[in-house]
Amino acid sequence: METAGKPNQDWKADRYAQHAHFVPALGAPVLELLKPQAGERILDLGCGDGVLTEKLAATGAVVVGVDAAADMIAAARRRGLDARVMEGGKLTFAGEFDAVFSNAALHWMKQDRDAVIAGVHRALKPGGRFVAEMGGHGCVAGITVAIIAVLERHGIKDGAATIPWYFPTVDDYRARLERGGFKVEYIELIPRPTPLPTNMAGWIELFAQPFLNRLPAEQRAGAVEEVVEMLRPVLCDEQGRWTGDYIRLRFAAHRQ
Ligand SMILES: C[S@@+](CC[C@H](N)C(=O)[O-])C[C@H]1O[C@@H](n2cnc3c(N)ncnc32)[C@H](O)[C@@H]1O
Repeated sequence: METAGKPNQDWKADRYAQHAHFVPALGAPVLELLKPQAGERILDLGCGDGVLTEKLAATGAVVVGVDAAADMIAAARRRGLDARVMEGGKLTFAGEFDAVFSNAALHWMKQDRDAVIAGVHRALKPGGRFVAEMGGHGCVAGITVAIIAVLERHGIKDGAATIPWYFPTVDDYRARLERGGFKVEYIELIPRPTPLPTNMAGWIELFAQPFLNRLPAEQRAGAVEEVVEMLRPVLCDEQGRWTGDYIRLRFAAHRQ
């Protein structure tokens, strides 16, 4: 099943838990930046399977999670959370949240980036805060170049057109937030080399499907191997441990 309205994404909670639970585990600094207070109403945008949403709720905040992927929302509901299937670019809330929080999701909302900011603005009470972390400019650059090079070997000359992520610079995202009616208190790019628990092949299987979908099914496993071997000299250490070349963009802003 494909993610609603996003034919290039196919998020499944079991695969996410297997390959990517480092994502919510590394969300602690952005939670600290949010400083959730008991009783506040908080929206978790792109909540996934709800691991961080649950942490938010444990602070006593009243949390709603939204995500475009029905399978992820089903997993979040199994945690007892108020979680709803909703597109980030089509948020339906109006003036009801003290804060909107997001971890590792905004860069997937590539086509809707300004509609997302507009919907967050509408969802917030006046003065409400928007605190988030997403991939930032240069994130997974090495991995992306290797995938595009392997696609080219397989006859796909426009692999870059398939890049599914939007990794903005500080200047770009600050300007978008300001145009969208936010005052930005803090925004920073943070290099964060990230250990990959299921190695590079696991990472590619989970996060790089849009690229692999360009190839006939029978070529995909071989292509993953080629990417892995291309990256081994730079992202795998002597002990065989893989590190992703992550760069995060973290910010705190409030609705003017
Ligand atoms: C890497 S996961 C992050 C999940 C969670 N925030 C966490 O920290 O574990 C990215 C999530 O963004 C969601 N997503 C991607 N595009 C979306 C969109 N346009 N609207 C809403 N959710 C979206 C995906 O379904 C996925 O659950």
